[in-house]
Amino acid sequence: MSKIKKVNSYWELGCHVADIVEHTLTLPEPKLILPTGSTPIGLYNELVNRQLDWSNVTTFNLDEYIINPNHPQSYHSFMKKHLFDRIDIYPNNCNFPDRNTQAYEDIIPEIDLCILGIGSNGHIAFNEPGSSFDSVTRVVDLDKQTIEDNSRFFDSIDDVHKQAITMGLKTIMKSKKIVLIANGVHKYKILNVAMNGGVTEKVPASILQEHNNVEVYYCD
Ligand code: F6R
Repeated sequence: MSKIKKVNSYWELGCHVADIVEHTLTLPEPKLILPTGSTPIGLYNELVNRQLDWSNVTTFNLDEYIINPNHPQSYHSFMKKHLFDRIDIYPNNCNFPDRNTQAYEDIIPEIDLCILGIGSNGHIAFNEPGSSFDSVTRVVDLDKQTIEDNSRFFDSIDDVHKQAITMGLKTIMKSKKIVLIANGVHKYKILNVAMNGGVTEKVPASILQEHNNVEVYYCD
């Protein structure tokens, strides 16, 4: 059986994963890892619509550019716009990596649910091809493919940030449950390679095959 669950629409993708988040939010003090990017926007809209209680939730974002957090293109700004400013989460409970990478690694607790997107080169967070499966939070140079893919969010490719801070693959793999989401036919090939091909550092997302509680949702 394929490890990839195909759903009928982008809306359904958001609803399925929102069900998982909603269930996690029934825990006493839920701890979540969250992504940015275009894929989770529908999920975040669905979560906002559900008017859930986020007052006891703590979140840890996967990554951030080396950038002023108040910059409109920062992932801080993205999260505020799409989720945090629209729910009743305490701003102090929303954590992002910064240059003090070891301090971030040290405060990440046991995570109940980690939500991931996948890059067209197989990256998860900003763990680009070739990243060690033992990697932890660190500063990384973005892959050429990632810079090209992310240029759609900027006025020109020259404006795309070339460095970022990312959680490592080892950090992500410690999560109790992981949900990977992918939207669009252009993601299917790499998703299939990651979930059904060999486990290799050339395809960072392939490490997820070694986790015992992963769900993968895809829509085309
Ligand atoms: C962003 C992140 C990235 C994205 C990936 C897919 O926080 O961790 O790994 O999940 O680049 O991005 P989209 O969803 O824009 O295709």
